[in-house]
Amino acid sequence: MKRIVVEGSQWGDEGKGKITDYFSQKAKIVVRFQGGNNAGHTIVFGSKKFAVRLIPSGIFHKGTTCVLASGMVVNPEAFLEELAIIKEAGFDTSKVLLSDRASVIFDYHKMLDGARETALGKAKIGTTGKGIGPCYTDKASRIGLRIGDLVNEKTLEKRLKNALEFKNRELESYGLAPLKFSEVFKKYKKLGEQIKPYVCDTSLFLQKEVKKGTKILFEGAQGAMLCLTHGTYPFVTSSSPMANSIPLSCGIPCNSIEYVLGIAKAYTTRVGEGPFPTELFGDLANEIRVRGHEYGTVTKRPRRIGWLDACVLRHAANISGINGWAVTLLDVLTGLDEIKICDKYIYNGKTIDTIPATLEEFEEYQPHYITLKGWKEDITKVKSFDELPKNAQNYLKTIEKLTGVKIALFSVGPDRKQTIVLFDPFEN
Ligand code: GDP
Ligand code: IMO
Ligand code: MG
Repeated sequence: MKRIVVEGSQWGDEGKGKITDYFSQKAKIVVRFQGGNNAGHTIVFGSKKFAVRLIPSGIFHKGTTCVLASGMVVNPEAFLEELAIIKEAGFDTSKVLLSDRASVIFDYHKMLDGARETALGKAKIGTTGKGIGPCYTDKASRIGLRIGDLVNEKTLEKRLKNALEFKNRELESYGLAPLKFSEVFKKYKKLGEQIKPYVCDTSLFLQKEVKKGTKILFEGAQGAMLCLTHGTYPFVTSSSPMANSIPLSCGIPCNSIEYVLGIAKAYTTRVGEGPFPTELFGDLANEIRVRGHEYGTVTKRPRRIGWLDACVLRHAANISGINGWAVTLLDVLTGLDEIKICDKYIYNGKTIDTIPATLEEFEEYQPHYITLKGWKEDITKVKSFDELPKNAQNYLKTIEKLTGVKIALFSVGPDRKQTIVLFDPFEN
């Protein structure tokens, strides 16, 4: 297969960066299609560790073209900073392409993100504060600017003037000082000039490569439960991390996608607010948090911890047609006497195995668990499924049984090498 998707199947931070980096050995192009620098994707090889936010995780492989496609929201300052760090570390950044249709995140989007969260008080979303929601809002209300507008001085002047008029009114409504057009224009004109060499029509580029049969990897950010349409709304991000959104967000035909790899952490984590039926508290949650280094890549917030939720995985699989699982961080569960998986929920005395539309209902759902025996052996060096302790094998087989989706690979440590592939879509 030629075109493969890495999709987060829970609430983000499933290890998408690691798996994207792994498959980038084979892909010629790696594409980020939605979100912005709210993402934090960690890549580890040898003694090196990087966290990318905007740039696709394929950047560490020589010769890979990295595309930031049209569905993304891009903070040009953050983009240039990230490029500089990667370049400084000795990697080639000349093959980065930024869509002229991607949306621009301005400082006022970040300011409005913060102001809205403060105004929401206890009802806050717990956003990353990067201006993601306000930028997508402007796109939908048609006063946003595209990267193509930013790199054209005349268009920038006209469209920014128009946008700032509305945005200043909004800033003032939150008690914030309005921004001076001349200052904003000066700053972004310069940023536009700096990003210009990377900007092109990425849809045309990808359409040609799809036709040629080039191996392309699509790297999702966030996860299915943070999807604007199918996630735990309103505690979601403002885009769709699901494979379904790729054709639209990249400007390529609907039938371009050949295989969807669902990235599933062996347990569950969530940052930010919102319902989380299998959430754990106390010593066990702390133990898993410390072992899995479960602190946000972007905001450094401690991640909320819970057991694996098979209903969540099925929800992701059913919507986006997940063909195989990549189960990550399996090593973090080593040493536990018992491991639980939620197979269904109990609500008003009934059993339910799907995700409801409203939070009010979801908050009332009680998880029903099946309990499996844990394993004590170190699994961080295993090279095959057969080398895993029987109980770890059983854990993976149970995930397959509960979701009806095969395990394509599992991961037993953060390093590139700690990846055991059972089915490689690029080779099939
Ligand atoms: P992403 O946002 O989906 O790319 O995930 P993050 O990078 O935010 O969080 C995943 C974390 O788990 C990172 O610190 C990775 O280095 C780490 N990681 C990935 N796979 C494994 C694994 O199999 N075992 C362990 N112990 N850590 C892993
Ligand atoms: P990666 O790609 C985990 C969460 C935020 C918040 C909600 C909305 O690293 O998996 P936003 O700033 O997007 O408006 O925040 O979404 N969130 C993430 N959680 N991993 C991410 O990205 C996330 N990106 C956003 O914590 O709850
Ligand atoms: Mg992350």
